[in-house]
Amino acid sequence: MEAIKQVFTTCKAEGRAALVTYVTAGFPTVEETPEIMLAMQSGGSDIIELGIPFTDPLTDGPTIQKSNAQALINGVRIPTMLQMVQDARKLGLTVPVLLMGYYNPVRAYGEEKLLKECQSAGVNGFIIVDLPPEEAVRFRDHCKVKGLTYIPIVAPSTTDTRMEMLCSIADSFVYVASKMGVTGATKTLDTGLEQLLSRVHHYTKGSVPAAVGFGINTREHFSTVASIAEGVVIGSRIIELLQEAPKGTGAEKVKEYCLHVSGRSAHCAIKSAQGQKPSIAKTEKNEPDQLSAMKSQNHTTSSDDIARFGQFGGQYVPEALMECLTELEDGFNKASADPTFWEEIRSYASYTNRPSSLHQASRLTEYAGGARIWLKREDLNHTGSHRINNALGQVLLARRLGKTSIIAETGAGQHGVATATLCALLGLKCTIFMGAEDVERQALNVFRIKLLGATVIPVPGAHPGDGGTLRDAVNQAFRTWVTDLKTTHFVIGSAFGPHPYPTIVRTFQSVIGEETRSQFMQEMNGKLPDAVLACVGGGSNAAGMFYPFLKDPSVQLVGVEAGGDGTSNGRHATTLARGSVGVLHGVRTYVLQDDDGQIISTHSVSAGLDYPGVGPELASWKDSNRARFIAADDKDALDGFRLLSQTEGIIPALESAHAVAGAVRVAKDLGPDKDVVICLSGRGDKDVQQVAKMMPNLMSAE
Ligand SMILES: Cc1ncc(COP(=O)(O)O)c(C=O)c1O
Repeated sequence: MEAIKQVFTTCKAEGRAALVTYVTAGFPTVEETPEIMLAMQSGGSDIIELGIPFTDPLTDGPTIQKSNAQALINGVRIPTMLQMVQDARKLGLTVPVLLMGYYNPVRAYGEEKLLKECQSAGVNGFIIVDLPPEEAVRFRDHCKVKGLTYIPIVAPSTTDTRMEMLCSIADSFVYVASKMGVTGATKTLDTGLEQLLSRVHHYTKGSVPAAVGFGINTREHFSTVASIAEGVVIGSRIIELLQEAPKGTGAEKVKEYCLHVSGRSAHCAIKSAQGQKPSIAKTEKNEPDQLSAMKSQNHTTSSDDIARFGQFGGQYVPEALMECLTELEDGFNKASADPTFWEEIRSYASYTNRPSSLHQASRLTEYAGGARIWLKREDLNHTGSHRINNALGQVLLARRLGKTSIIAETGAGQHGVATATLCALLGLKCTIFMGAEDVERQALNVFRIKLLGATVIPVPGAHPGDGGTLRDAVNQAFRTWVTDLKTTHFVIGSAFGPHPYPTIVRTFQSVIGEETRSQFMQEMNGKLPDAVLACVGGGSNAAGMFYPFLKDPSVQLVGVEAGGDGTSNGRHATTLARGSVGVLHGVRTYVLQDDDGQIISTHSVSAGLDYPGVGPELASWKDSNRARFIAADDKDALDGFRLLSQTEGIIPALESAHAVAGAVRVAKDLGPDKDVVICLSGRGDKDVQQVAKMMPNLMSAE
């Protein structure tokens, strides 16, 4: 911490802004990183940010994304990074080094262990882009004890209240993101920068320096920013240079660029680096946790508690997204307390075809030879799945918030179709992000979305072997949203994502369970079903089906996850059964990840279940044992697909076919005179072509 303070004091004395340079650790190769750090120092860099590669960077542009992917291929993990810093220090690196990245790899490594090892490796602090305020304060206090610094980030969208709070936790400098959007070198700087900085300086009372990053590229940019800020951060341009440089020349190019951009001479740069001793962080005496003090000053949002489902949930997003999540939360709270909003939703019942029917599946019951099986027919909804319930609620909410443009992610394409349908109906611009692999396997839905007047953006997989699935679509939708939060609403389709999305999606989907409960009780003279089942991808149809039965302890809640090729070989999507607690797409929940906190690839025959995370509320129901989760693999699902078609004359979506397979097992276990209701989340028209290709190999011969 002291070393960084010293940098800014020296720069001030020399009448210049500090140059802060970024490189992703291990890009382009592991061997070059210490060399690049030394080249930055010789080029006049005052502070170095070493990027922690992560599989799913939420608001990084293509340049940093690619460098992350390459670094991961190169095997870079936190221990490799610490070794790089140690090596660079041995070779004469004296400038402070900050580790910068997303929280999940840090969390997986273990904060305590990391801070200790950073201290001895010669790391000086952290920039963690997606830590929510309450955790940032805790982390900062732990850093402080070890003599390390934690740098908060502010963005143009940061409100005064948050700005005050973030500036108050800064102990060395504040990182100011110059523009809304993803990282990346740009041609022009944001015109509002001066005003943003004067707000920062107001809240730091001039006592904590501010360094501006995002988009800085040329000498002219540097000079402009240096005239109003105490530091200038350059990242993407350096990564571009490294990408362009002939093999083995990257470090030299970086040095030349740093000298040029900062306008410093090599002599001055060497002199100031020599003037510094390698900065070793020193343990400080324990400081009180500042959270309670901040809470009493009303600095944190009132939603800290309601944003969580036990240990799950929260808002692990870059600062730029915080304000619009607050706007969404306020808008949703107001709308849900307003009876006219619910009247408006109900006025679309004939359009969406609600209530959906509850159908007793007699021949399927006979086949299973156990409990009676019932089907809640969400497949009969307009557009063919449960997705329309949530899309309707969110699109109407977006309209209330004055948004004119809608974006959405989609896996199986059903959420894309439902969203595009409502945008057509209400005259809103619509863009749907879909993994490139899903675009192939759900071609019919891609055509439907386009026919409805929306644009489909295929998103390639970011890592080797990944064709591009729901996870990639979510990443790209977030990256697009952050460029235009004012006019755009991101209609997340499942019960995942940062607060308030899981609550919003579950609220709009609860119509499934509410109707099931009253329809079933009416049919069965007040009895409740013994079990309700739903397939689980992100968890929206399950959350909507289960929530109204939560307080009925006699009703078993059973989620069916995608077992893929079979859960033992790693190609599956059984996040609740086989995942561990982590952070993905802005939320703490169960995640399929490796020991280093990198998200792993999933597989399922059904695009809609092919996702490595799950809604936080489902995670909490698993932990409290209120719900249990079983798996149906690809073959089970294909069997279920044919079984429902041939016993009931209903072709289910491949996603719902997992629930059918699971229900046959549960019905057998429960035995006669019991009742099981399946949420038949969608119909299978979209899957028929795909299944036709696979049937000869995968369907069991009978
Ligand atoms: C028909 C259908 N059912 C279920 C799902 C899984 O999503 P969730 O778990 O959010 O209900 C999907 C996803 O696309 C789907 O299309």
